[in-house]
Amino acid sequence: MGRYRDASGMKTIFSGLAASLTLLMAATTQAQDTDARADALVKQMTQAEKLQLVFGFYATPSKKDYMPPAEVISHSAGFVPGIARLNIPNQWQTDAGLGVASHRTMEQPRLRTALPSGIATAATWNPEIALAGGQMIGNEARLSGFNVMLSGGANLLREPRNGRNFEYAGEDPYLAGIMAGTTIKGIQSNHIVATTKHFALNDQETNRHGISADITENDARQTDLLAFQIAIETGQPGSVMCSYNRVNGTYACENDWLLNTVLKSDWGYKGYVMSDWGAVHSTIPAALNGLDQESGYFFDASPYFGDAMKEAVADGHISEARLDDMARRIVRSLAADGVLDDPVKGDRGAEIDYKAHANVTQADAEQAIVLLKNTAGLLPLKAKRIAVIGGHADVGVLSGGGSSQVYPYGAPANGRILPNEGPNDFPGPMVWYPSSPLKALAAHSRARVTYADGKDLKAAVRAARGADVVVVFATQWTGEQIDVTSLNLPGDQDALITAVARANPKTVVVLETGGPVVMPWIGHAAAVLEAWYPGTSGGEAIARVLTGEVNPSGHLPATFPVSEAQLPRPKLDGSAEDQQARVDVDYRIEGSAVGYKWFDKKGIKPLFPFGYGLSYTTFKLSGLKAQAVDGTVHATATVTNSGARAGMAVAQIYVSGDGWEAPKRLGGWAKVALKPGESKTVEVTVDPRLLSTADGKAWVLKGGDYKVILASSAADPIATTTVHLDGRTLDAAGH
Ligand code: GLC
Repeated sequence: MGRYRDASGMKTIFSGLAASLTLLMAATTQAQDTDARADALVKQMTQAEKLQLVFGFYATPSKKDYMPPAEVISHSAGFVPGIARLNIPNQWQTDAGLGVASHRTMEQPRLRTALPSGIATAATWNPEIALAGGQMIGNEARLSGFNVMLSGGANLLREPRNGRNFEYAGEDPYLAGIMAGTTIKGIQSNHIVATTKHFALNDQETNRHGISADITENDARQTDLLAFQIAIETGQPGSVMCSYNRVNGTYACENDWLLNTVLKSDWGYKGYVMSDWGAVHSTIPAALNGLDQESGYFFDASPYFGDAMKEAVADGHISEARLDDMARRIVRSLAADGVLDDPVKGDRGAEIDYKAHANVTQADAEQAIVLLKNTAGLLPLKAKRIAVIGGHADVGVLSGGGSSQVYPYGAPANGRILPNEGPNDFPGPMVWYPSSPLKALAAHSRARVTYADGKDLKAAVRAARGADVVVVFATQWTGEQIDVTSLNLPGDQDALITAVARANPKTVVVLETGGPVVMPWIGHAAAVLEAWYPGTSGGEAIARVLTGEVNPSGHLPATFPVSEAQLPRPKLDGSAEDQQARVDVDYRIEGSAVGYKWFDKKGIKPLFPFGYGLSYTTFKLSGLKAQAVDGTVHATATVTNSGARAGMAVAQIYVSGDGWEAPKRLGGWAKVALKPGESKTVEVTVDPRLLSTADGKAWVLKGGDYKVILASSAADPIATTTVHLDGRTLDAAGH
């Protein structure tokens, strides 16, 4: 990640060495205190109390007459009874990474603020935005009575058709790790525990309970696991949620290599591993191989960490010491994250400052919107007659489905503004946030704005012909437990866009999608914006970008292919028939060459590359300098706003070494705001692991020359230089 200094002076952000050492010593002392505190608590526990901590309940009444414990917060994700005698509170667990979710059987769901999707926040390339978003949703979780927030989705976008890409942070491990980890940091600043999930390689939803993600250990460590490692280092989540899938044939929640070797030993992780809801398949293997807490019992075939755990301890299959370790990890995180000293105080939802929170989610959405095409400066809109078409732009903006579903103020109780759209069953309902881009555009523009819903193609074409400019909205609903069967826009939206754009070449397309989509109509559209799922203030955000009140500054966190034929797997593996079926997905095809690395390695030109994003102004990147500092690459460059209006640029630094999985890797970036004519110097220090290859827990940084590339996207190099580095072997943390 980069920092910047004003060109005029050396306003360095780094504090003095002395201050750093003091900070380090304080942190060490605090960690030792937390360890000691956890040890002392466990020592006071009875065995029954320890067993109580490792077994969680689902917190929503469900079919098969399951009734949760009385103390749960209704229609939420989970609940773990506390130990009042020791002042250990109940653990009230809420979903998820975009805000406080309500589980769908609730008649009157909790209405809360939703951030834009995780991939949208990643598209801001701005950790300050991620921090503010995490702080906001963590505040709403706390004031709703929750002290555990099941957030921090860090799975890599290996599979563009994955139904849950909207919850994650894109295809690059460094960008994903920093952005997901910073969100976690924001959430935990509210003295609640955040998780990172779904650990690991849970990169598609089809057959998610049965699939085996097959990959070499070193390739896993350089990609999906590196994203989690950086997220954990950045956000220090109190818990890691192991995932449904198998990794190389063994379920993630009983995978000794994944949990004990990599997470707890190599990375030194001191928090606790909770299962996903229904991801536990045993008692003894799961406990011995690293699982610390069974979550959401109701979903598992058996209460593996209930009485069976007690028996296993009594029989000596699971040692008292291991049970102590499970309990210690849990209370250690509760202590470290402030849950014990600053306990939540029940439902204080009335105290939530929704107005301030609306500004937070809107700022995120505004910086997440990516301007992909803008022929002849059609945007920002200057027309007098604007025809808005499709995408239910008259009612609101789309959100993703599943356990992360946040219900918005202003919608009907069940969130169903559009009763006939989307499935009733999970991951439905399809929820639209009542922030209408049409209404917002009319309010922010002096033009005459009309609307056609796009269902009647002829009417849409007539509307297009009768306007100066057309703005077509296109949506792609995605959700948990399902993947998209194609990257084409669903329904006949591709045909609608083509017809409208042919009728009026001044056509702007606004996409509300869960991730990458193909665009067969791209040649006909004059302008394209990717707005993702823009959250509960998304309509405002889109309108302000369209009218130019906001200069778009989003950059793609994932490659948009021309077609699925360009992907490592042109067809998705598995079938939706039987979610439990054992399907082997061979991630060895691409190995570490995920996303743009695959396209580079194969010499394939995507539709829009990773890191790509236009602006209403122009930027000049120059003055690349790089040198070896402390055994890694330190690069600086100058970013100048060479256009006529203020904007934010994302200067990207890629690095390239011999024998890697692909020609280059993202080494760092810096996002800077610049007035017209203003210049700033940006600096990036590359994490040495990004210059190395994984060799078990170690990282091997080969001696030699490394290319350093200054770029505005993965396909737009501006300047290159070379740095010589001495060879060395790094520990797991890259030291
Ligand atoms: C779900 C999801 C997970 C969620 C949990 C609780 O199935 O996989 O992300 O936090 O169960 O709802």
